[in-house]
Amino acid sequence: MKYWSLIVIVLLMVGLTLSTLSPPKDKQRKDKGKKKDNQKGPVDQSVFDRGLVVKDPKNIDILRESGLYHQDTNHRNFDGEVLGYITPWNSGGLEVAKTFHGKLTSVSPTWLTLPNGSIKEFKIATHDVQEKWLKDIRTANDAIHQLKVLPRLLFENWKPKEIINLHKNEARRAQLVQALIETAKKHKFHGYVLEIWIGFYYSGVDTRIIIDLIKSLSEELKKNNLQVVLVIPPSRSSETDVFSQTHFDLLSPIVDYFSLMTYDYSSVQRPGPNSPLDWARKCIEKLVPNDDDPRRQQILMGLNFYGYNYSLEGGGAILGSQYLELVESHKGKIKWDDGSKEHYFEVKTKVGSSFVFYPTLFSLQQRIQLAKDMGTGISIWELGQGLNYFYDLL
Ligand SMILES: *[C@@H]1O[C@H](CO)[C@@H](O)[C@H](O)[C@H]1NC(C)=O
Ligand SMILES: *[C@@H]1O[C@H](CO)[C@@H](O)[C@H](O)[C@H]1NC(C)=O
Repeated sequence: MKYWSLIVIVLLMVGLTLSTLSPPKDKQRKDKGKKKDNQKGPVDQSVFDRGLVVKDPKNIDILRESGLYHQDTNHRNFDGEVLGYITPWNSGGLEVAKTFHGKLTSVSPTWLTLPNGSIKEFKIATHDVQEKWLKDIRTANDAIHQLKVLPRLLFENWKPKEIINLHKNEARRAQLVQALIETAKKHKFHGYVLEIWIGFYYSGVDTRIIIDLIKSLSEELKKNNLQVVLVIPPSRSSETDVFSQTHFDLLSPIVDYFSLMTYDYSSVQRPGPNSPLDWARKCIEKLVPNDDDPRRQQILMGLNFYGYNYSLEGGGAILGSQYLELVESHKGKIKWDDGSKEHYFEVKTKVGSSFVFYPTLFSLQQRIQLAKDMGTGISIWELGQGLNYFYDLL
């Protein structure tokens, strides 16, 4: 390598290290969003110290600060369970899980699917499993803190007769459980997140059969020291509850945790906030009404780390990086919706305008406080979609 290019690289590295270790200077702040300047890395002050958890966040602060995080990633502000999902399609989540190992209690990579309920012998396809990453996560564990890995197992497109057959046929159930136990042993998983309820419920099979089936699978997994988390939908005012208090009462003695999907309250057809705070509270109260009930701990209230960009033509979900692009192009202020306790803003486009809802430090802090007040844990969908500075809150 030529001498001068080495010097340039060293200078760049010094510049980067200095700039990521200290908060942006006021001088830099005045240089208003002229160019995108989203630094990433650890700094010696948290978002609280830097005064960023506010109701009226500045666009420039979001752009400049959101990639930074407090260097003490082992310090926890939230004592309950924190489950973080990771998807292969936003693979940045793998790195996030390593960086914020100390802030999470378990991670659930969405690696496993059982797509065919009629197959003769169940095999768990593990081609998505990341061995090196699993090893890195284990290496970061110590006597005080161990991050559990519970991959999500999706039961996809099962027909009613296949569900009933699995319920009736004990040998078939035993074979499935055996395949799950062997897979867990081989990859050192601590259990599974079962994505089974919604699909089976809408198949039309009697919920008593579904509950019985989940109970029997969970019991066998737990006998083998594997944890079981059940994904459950939130309550919607427009319909009877897909997952009700009765279902919770029947399953809570067997299942360890319930991953409650308190997001996607609004949709492209009905734009609005993603997870109104009062609605999230009601979803928890409907399952466990009594504040002193210890089973509240079994609920992992869903926190969305993604947002939505709604327009007349439709729009769709957005990730942190897309949000930053929208914030950068947006000239006006970010607004607070006091009804839902969420931030949003309106972007003018050539044909009209679009509305952007995405979590902020302030909106997330209110939800984390809600989980503290209610005595629940948290589940994050998902680690690859959020912004680094969100983790200072946990
Ligand atoms: C499921 O498995 C059965 C038996 O192996 C096979 O006949 C059927 O085509 C499969 N269905 C799907 C949707 O893959
Ligand atoms: C947001 O929606 C507008 C209007 O549909 C569209 O023009 C724009 O590309 C979208 N931006 C992102 C980041 O999704």
